[in-house]
Amino acid sequence: NGAATKAGKTRDILEKMDETGKNCVIFYGSQTGTAEDYASRLAKEGSSRFGLKTMTADLEEYDFENLDSFPEDKVAMFVLATYGEGEPTDNAVEFYEFISSEDVSFAQGGGISEKPLANLKYVAFGLGNNTYEHYNSMVRNVTKFLDRLGANRIGTAGEGDDGAGTMEEDFLAWKEPMWKDLAESMHLQEREAVYEPVLEVTEKPDMDAESDDVYLGEPNKNHLEGKQKGPFNAHNPYIAPIAESKELFTVKDRNCLHMEIDISGSNLSYTTGDHIAIWPTNAGKEVDRFLNILGLGEKRHMVISVKGLDATAKIPFPSPTTYDAVVRYHMEICAPVSRQFVSALAPFSPNENIKAEMTKMGSDRDYFHDQVAARNYNLAQLLEFLSQGQTWDKVPFSIFIEGLHKIQPRYYSISSSSLVQKNKISITAVVESVEVPGASHVLKGVTTNYLLALKQKQHGDPNPDPHGLNYAITGPRNKYDGIHVPVHVRHSNFKLPSDPSKPIIMIGPGTGVAPFRGFVQERAKQARDGETVGKTMLFFGCRKKAEDFIYADEWEAYKNDMGDSFEMLTAFSREGAQKVYVQHLLKQRAAEIDRLLQQKAYFYVCGDAANMAREVNTVLAQIIAEQRGISESKAEDIVKAMRNSNAYQEDVWS
Ligand code: FAD
Ligand code: 2AM
Repeated sequence: NGAATKAGKTRDILEKMDETGKNCVIFYGSQTGTAEDYASRLAKEGSSRFGLKTMTADLEEYDFENLDSFPEDKVAMFVLATYGEGEPTDNAVEFYEFISSEDVSFAQGGGISEKPLANLKYVAFGLGNNTYEHYNSMVRNVTKFLDRLGANRIGTAGEGDDGAGTMEEDFLAWKEPMWKDLAESMHLQEREAVYEPVLEVTEKPDMDAESDDVYLGEPNKNHLEGKQKGPFNAHNPYIAPIAESKELFTVKDRNCLHMEIDISGSNLSYTTGDHIAIWPTNAGKEVDRFLNILGLGEKRHMVISVKGLDATAKIPFPSPTTYDAVVRYHMEICAPVSRQFVSALAPFSPNENIKAEMTKMGSDRDYFHDQVAARNYNLAQLLEFLSQGQTWDKVPFSIFIEGLHKIQPRYYSISSSSLVQKNKISITAVVESVEVPGASHVLKGVTTNYLLALKQKQHGDPNPDPHGLNYAITGPRNKYDGIHVPVHVRHSNFKLPSDPSKPIIMIGPGTGVAPFRGFVQERAKQARDGETVGKTMLFFGCRKKAEDFIYADEWEAYKNDMGDSFEMLTAFSREGAQKVYVQHLLKQRAAEIDRLLQQKAYFYVCGDAANMAREVNTVLAQIIAEQRGISESKAEDIVKAMRNSNAYQEDVWS
């Protein structure tokens, strides 16, 4: 029907496909960009191996009423991540509401019973995490709804598991039979895959990187012009000053940062329990490694412009820019390497021996695991390892822009109360530094090490770069250099009861205590203001009281405000012969916990999703069973019902 947005972009997918000559659309529901990446990979493979005319499409950018006119000779693919507690990703919410509706109505008027999607051929892959309860529920539900509407699924719906760390291999194992089925169904001929660029990178030797219209990491035009303009969101971060930063651990070898991010200059707002997203900058050491191995070290400040070779191509950052800026600010260069990407790079190897090695790694799962994954190589480290002193200067730069993950913001549970500090957001972040046996190097988390460097700089630390990560920028600088970070706020459902007199029980070991600092701050303020505050129990765990008991002095102060209604219970896991964890303390207080639950207490868990959150869930069910003299399965049902009514809330990550 040609419905157009303000920008003149059509929201009609069929019109868009016709206009651009496409016969395969890959829709993605993506939160952190991974599903979007998999969608791009399917698009590339479909065109290079099977000659499909592919495009990717953000689910948010299209309407779905006319899917009932989707022609039989085309195919739609759905790459769908499941977010949090089985929810759609933000960009898939509307699509999900539409497709799941009992009284869904399509353009030609067909409801469920008319099987309106009988012409729609589709393929589906889901991204999930089995440590969460509603594993891959998006792809499972969407396929159920599409099937109910009569759509024809090609192959099985794939399910990738981030929890088991097998996402990539799950994807690779799923897609081969899928392509076979699709080729049969659409009469496609397979051919030898050749790289077909979607983007064109042009060097501009006459342009000066310091000139006003060259992007050096600024996210968009407003930033480039030095005037930030809201609304600030995932597409337009606010570049916020860091008002304050400090170290929370007392040991030398581990770091935990407390930071105060000043949002007063923005129109951003938050409520207690929300998340803040932080956009990182890659370490100079890794930027150098990447550029040098590609033979781009000397040319790093060369201005380049990037343009799409077709109307559906997405350019993931603004241009003109420089090689240095692209690698530093826009590409996830430190992440694990994908086996498929190794295959894609193989034809561009510096010599035939290296090409053979790359081809073997790309095609042999176990060999790839031993040579690459087990060593935790990032891409440049792998290329360095294979290079025998040669540079990889035959690889077109566009292949990295198209094939590497675009840099993603990391989320942090806000550790302050919006009632106490409306314009300053606190975060509590443990600095990632992971030693893996057999790996070639210590893994340094991109964002947290960058934040650590900002803290050192803010404090004028005499040793600002203890790990040699090199955050100093030489050469042209962007407009936001300094003690600033690009951020946006993500609202969450992790919320205090609106009535402060309700009792709450919080379980937050390690940095899992972050949102609870906000919760307790808020209740302390309410108590100071004369409100009645219910029992506030906080279970915290760390290794040793003298090492990583974060905010130790603050908890005492909150006690002064709240008196006996605030109780903190601490589990120090490495002080005695036996490990003591938060769930052990929970058990010790079984009778009281059950009594509070009977008084409609809210129960909150934050932190490690892989083990802790699960074990706490189990222990709570055991407590309920014992205290009420009921079976464990009945008690588990009670916990499930608590989850459904939001009396049991989780804010967990792995
Ligand atoms: P990254 O660079 O993203 O690395 C993270 C991990 O990925 C590494 O430790 C390693 O295991 C793996 N990895 C990276 N590169 C490789 C490679 N080449 N090979 C193999 N493995 C690799 N964190 C907090 O500290 N506090 C919080 O309050 C908090 N709240 C959160 C709330 C939510 C909703 C979510 C989703 C996460 C939260 N996190 C929190 C985690 C946080 O978002 C980040 O994941 C964390 O800080 C690490 O980010 P990073 O960029 O430093 O590490
Ligand atoms: P550990 O590292 O000594 O095993 C914060 O990380 C605290 O959580 C640490 O004291 C850590 O103990 C503890 N922890 C580790 N695994 C846990 C689990 N499965 N349940 C609860 N706490 C855990």
